[in-house]
Amino acid sequence: MTEQSPAIRVLMMPRETNAHGTIFGGIILSYIDQAGAVGAIEAGCKRVVTVAMNKVEFHQPVFVGDLVSLYTSVEKVGRTSVVIHVDVRARRQRGAGEEISVTEATVTYVNIDDAGSPVPIAG
Ligand SMILES: CC(C)(COP(=O)(O)OP(=O)(O)OC[C@H]1O[C@@H](n2cnc3c(N)ncnc32)[C@H](O)[C@@H]1OP(=O)(O)O)[C@@H](O)C(=O)NCCC(=O)NCCS
Repeated sequence: MTEQSPAIRVLMMPRETNAHGTIFGGIILSYIDQAGAVGAIEAGCKRVVTVAMNKVEFHQPVFVGDLVSLYTSVEKVGRTSVVIHVDVRARRQRGAGEEISVTEATVTYVNIDDAGSPVPIAG
């Protein structure tokens, strides 16, 4: 696995909460998908689609006001696909204090051409 690279940083807002008042898991999944796509492009892909979210683990809740950062590392580069590990970390209380790991995921992207067909990754 390669070293972690920062992909996205975002401050969590009240509009992103679920019925319990914490951040809705689907919001985090959306950021994971975007961050992973950044990682895939950095790994040599030109245009990507998500083919699989192989694993997602929610370790800790995310709260309104958390400063959330998503880091990516490359797990595997195939012929047309790339597997990206995404680590989601949160700083509580609007960015104060220590960053803790809240969620992690493994996502597979496929490098595609204009017609949407898989094409080899340039490398
Ligand atoms: C991704 C897509 C282009 C792959 O097409 P395909 O005809 O299945 O392609 P292939 O069988 O040639 O596989 C291409 C690569 O994807 C990998 N792959 C295919 N299905 C996979 C799966 N379920 N999990 C992990 N990898 C997968 C293959 O192993 C291959 O990798 P490699 O070239 O590095 O060995 C096609 O399935 C697709 O368009 N899916 C929809 C993607 C999308 O819209 N995502 C957003 C959803 S909102």
